[in-house]
Amino acid sequence: MPAGEFTDFTDFTDFTVKPTLTGEKVVLRPFDVVADLPALSEALRDPEAVRLTGSTPLPPDDDASLRAWYGSRDAQPDRLDLAVVDRASGGCVGEAVLNEWDERNRGCSFRILLGPAGRDRGLGTEAVRLTVGYGFERLGLHRISLEVYAFNARARRAYEKVGFVAEGVLRDALRDGDGWVDATVMSILAPEWAGHRGRPPA
Ligand SMILES: CC(C)(COP(=O)(O)OP(=O)(O)OC[C@H]1O[C@@H](n2cnc3c(N)ncnc32)[C@H](O)[C@@H]1OP(=O)(O)O)[C@@H](O)C(=O)NCCC(=O)NCCS
Repeated sequence: MPAGEFTDFTDFTDFTVKPTLTGEKVVLRPFDVVADLPALSEALRDPEAVRLTGSTPLPPDDDASLRAWYGSRDAQPDRLDLAVVDRASGGCVGEAVLNEWDERNRGCSFRILLGPAGRDRGLGTEAVRLTVGYGFERLGLHRISLEVYAFNARARRAYEKVGFVAEGVLRDALRDGDGWVDATVMSILAPEWAGHRGRPPA
C-alpha cells in the first residue's frame, strides 16, 4: 500500500486475528508451543536479555508456566504476541509483542526479546518494523510506545531505525546491581509511519 493511501485505510482488523508477517530475514507467526518452547525458555533466561529488559529472572525448570503462557497467547483478544522466526534456520529466536492496548486512544506498548542466536543480524530491526507496521496498517493504532534502558544502545538504535522518537527520560527507573539506570520513553505515531513506513530519513 503506498504511504499516501494510508490515512484512507479503514478496513482494520482486530486483536483476535493472529497474523503471520513475512519479512526478508524473519517470519513473525503465532507460537507453536511444542516447537518454540526450548528457544523461548533459553531466550527468556538469557542473563543478558534479563538485564537488558529489566526482567525478573524466571525460576529454573519452570517450563509449565511458560507452556501455559505461550499456549494461551492466541486466545488473547486485546494484545498480539508473535514468535520471531529466523528464516535462515527456521527456528524461533524470540518474541515481539503489542500489549497494554488503550482502545479509546488507539495506543499500545511494544516489546521485543530475542535470544543470543537471533541477535546482531538485523532480525530485531525487521521484527520491530513488521510488528509496528501491522499495528498501524491493520490494527488501526495511532500511537505505539516503549521504554528502553540507557544501557541498551542496540535496542534504541533498532527502534530509531524504524522511526521511534525519544520523548522523555524516566530517571533512575531501574535498579541495576548497585546502581540506577534511566529509561527513555519512545513512541511512533500513525502519521509518522504513513510518511516513512518504518524507514525514516537518516
Ligand atoms: C534489541 C534487539 C531486539 C535488537 O535486535 P538485533 O537483531 O539484535 O539488532 P539489529 O541487528 O537489528 O540492529 C541493531 C542496530 O544497533 C546497532 N548496535 C548494535 N550494538 C550496538 C551498541 N552497543 N551501541 C549502539 N548501536 C549498536 C547495530 O549496528 C544495528 O544498527 P545498524 O544496522 O545501523 O548497524 C535484540 O538485540 C534483543 O532482543 N536483545 C535482548 C532483549 C532486549 O534488549 N530487548 C529490548 C528491550 S527495550
